[in-house]
Amino acid sequence: MAVVLTERPEAADAAFYAELHAQGPAIEARYRSLTPGSLASFRRATSVFPGGYTRDAVMRSPHPTFVDRAQGTALIDADGRRLVDFWFNATSLPLGHAHPAVVAAIAGQAPKGTAYYAPTLHEVRLAEALLPRLPGAERIRFTNSGSEAVMMAVRFARAWRAAGTPAGRTPPTTLVKFEGSYHGSYDDVSWSVSPKPEKAGPPARPVPVAESAGLAGAEGRVVVLPFNDAQGLRVWVDAHADSVAAILVEPMANRIGLVMPDRAFLAEARALADRHGIALVFDEVISFRVGYRGVQGEVGIQPDLTTLGKIIGGGFAVGAVAGRASILDLSAPDRAARVTHAGTFNGNPMTSAAGRATLELLTPEAFARLGELGAQVRAGLAEAARGLPLQVTGAGSLFKVTALGRGVRDYRDAAASDKRWESLCSLALANEGFVLTPGLSGCVSTVTTRAEADALVSAFRDIVRS
Ligand SMILES: Cc1ncc(COP(=O)(O)O)c(C=O)c1O
Repeated sequence: MAVVLTERPEAADAAFYAELHAQGPAIEARYRSLTPGSLASFRRATSVFPGGYTRDAVMRSPHPTFVDRAQGTALIDADGRRLVDFWFNATSLPLGHAHPAVVAAIAGQAPKGTAYYAPTLHEVRLAEALLPRLPGAERIRFTNSGSEAVMMAVRFARAWRAAGTPAGRTPPTTLVKFEGSYHGSYDDVSWSVSPKPEKAGPPARPVPVAESAGLAGAEGRVVVLPFNDAQGLRVWVDAHADSVAAILVEPMANRIGLVMPDRAFLAEARALADRHGIALVFDEVISFRVGYRGVQGEVGIQPDLTTLGKIIGGGFAVGAVAGRASILDLSAPDRAARVTHAGTFNGNPMTSAAGRATLELLTPEAFARLGELGAQVRAGLAEAARGLPLQVTGAGSLFKVTALGRGVRDYRDAAASDKRWESLCSLALANEGFVLTPGLSGCVSTVTTRAEADALVSAFRDIVRS
């Protein structure tokens, strides 16, 4: 939950941020001096990848840290430095790196073959481990990423709405998504993820802004509404319900700052979906890490479809869409107007075995311990930042520091934060051996110790109080 710190006048905030900005050249110089091996690897990468990268998430200034190997919480970088991981491949490794149970599961499967042109009991077992954690979800389909899971959820929702549309009427196709929400790389969700506020229209009625070059257009496909505004959502959806296929919402918004919306916002989305027969999709690709039953279990609101990814694959590429049988059964072979869904590696035995081994250890007690340690980190960071224009947010095992003098509720708040300060603070932490995102998002895993959590808080305090 948000820990809202003292409100301060903006000029004082700017003076605070300027102190770290002034240290920027020294922080970057130190990073360069610690990472010559990473720089050499990065130079090599630039001759094969555009700008040196094959995935946007790891883009870093002045260059990324290349990793040689990892174990538990430790990352060993290309220069032989030992770093403490507080991001675990974008939260996807809740047991840490190379956990013995996961290594045993994949070592047991690899000699028997890694993928077949046939189903296996591994994928059935993973599905059986997941469905009881999602009350209301009766069926599941696996994909190879969270992005694909979202793509399929949108397709299922549109097909379900079309199936219920009387002959001769135009089926609804519009997807409602929220400003600042990231749902992966699929075109229809690549709108208004991080738009410049001056291009994004009025806060109460944002215009969709393309997140990428190459998108075909939002008209008739996507509408963007403000996150965490229950009344705005109700007014818009009540007026346009006939055109809406699905409401897609992150029950904890990652890019906005690991912010939990008001329960009333999620309840309003549920009520509107019920009132108008719209599909409500919770994107729990990240937030399934918050509790044994995801955020939906924490807040007691069930969506029609849930998208999953990250932790359910035990460190392997994965995604899933789960939900009501009446929707997902549209992909059953006997359906006339069926939803098609292929994928060479969907539900492959390696991912499924690793995912199941991981979920077996992620018991309610394990989530309770993760939540306790996460709360300890959040409290420590908030204490270190007391009186400063910094906000600490997150829930469960997740945390984030935002360089802003007021609380974070929605995208426009998040967009006003000092991103340069955040990335310099993150780089300064990397120099001390702690790995968070450039936006200062982090998480703990079951292998994270209290001592490591304390050491992170202490390094953060040294940076913000120096
Ligand atoms: C909420 C959410 N949805 C979807 C995705 C996309 O998942 P993937 O990177 O596996 O495609 C992410 C990734 O961070 C996410 O946070």
